[in-house]
Amino acid sequence: MNIKKVRKAVIPAAGLGTRFLPATKGMAKEMLPIVDKPTILYQVEEAVNAGIEEVIIIISKEKKAIIDFFAKDEEYERYLISKGHKDFADVIKNISELAKITYVYQDEQKGLGHAILCTKEAVGDEPFVVILGDDLIINKNGDNVSKQLIDAYYKMGTSILGVQEVDASLTYKYGIVKPGIIDGRYIEVIGMVEKPKDNPPSRYAALGRYLLTPDIFDKLKVTTYGAGGEIQLTDALTKLDKLWAYNFIGSRYDIGDKFGYVKAIIDFSLDRDDIKDLVYEHIKTKNKIY
Ligand code: G1P
Repeated sequence: MNIKKVRKAVIPAAGLGTRFLPATKGMAKEMLPIVDKPTILYQVEEAVNAGIEEVIIIISKEKKAIIDFFAKDEEYERYLISKGHKDFADVIKNISELAKITYVYQDEQKGLGHAILCTKEAVGDEPFVVILGDDLIINKNGDNVSKQLIDAYYKMGTSILGVQEVDASLTYKYGIVKPGIIDGRYIEVIGMVEKPKDNPPSRYAALGRYLLTPDIFDKLKVTTYGAGGEIQLTDALTKLDKLWAYNFIGSRYDIGDKFGYVKAIIDFSLDRDDIKDLVYEHIKTKNKIY
């Protein structure tokens, strides 16, 4: 097995965010905050905490706000300090120093597979993690999901699909695995169907995390338009010689969905010392009213 150190992560962020209109007209959906942190910061922090050195963010021309957010801005830091906000100055300084961040443009919206193919040069001949912004995954008591997939790659030496079982009524929303051997948390993938309308091959759903080996790029090059008229990563994955899925540990929020987004805000608020008591009291009051 030709195992290489996993140093890079790819975060696709070129999508239009139509599910969050009108907020996303003129604003990057990745900048929508969970309390006071834009969602993309959670993904970059996940990558860094998993030991990633370079984060490649796929953007479009409309997503300049993301570049501005991660850029160093010493003038603004000095301004905040002069106004007595050293704490905020430190926060924005730390964000700009989190990781090496590079940007790749996807000028046409042709799907997730096409987005990943746009990173071929930036990734090179190395394994890499893919972190999808709509899936916010938290594991309070152990390694985060990206780290779990990296370790699964070190063990198996193949691309690894992050999966969990979803309710049978929800399989139509995801890439669904046709399982072969199941060994603890490892599931051999012998087939996959993108968003099956009926007869899903299992309830194991791809939930926004992938560890990909660089041979995926050759498969993506020959992948034609699939489900939803898009070039699907799922279709390229099924062309790989060998693929394992890993049933990761963690709670997932579908923050591309309005209810999932609100749930994340409530749960994250209840985890923060500065506001949790206020939020809890507020929810209790609402409970009495309804
Ligand atoms: C994408 C993938 C799908 C996966 C999902 C996870 O779909 O194509 O296989 O299950 O992300 O969130 P999307 O939700 O971007 O349409």
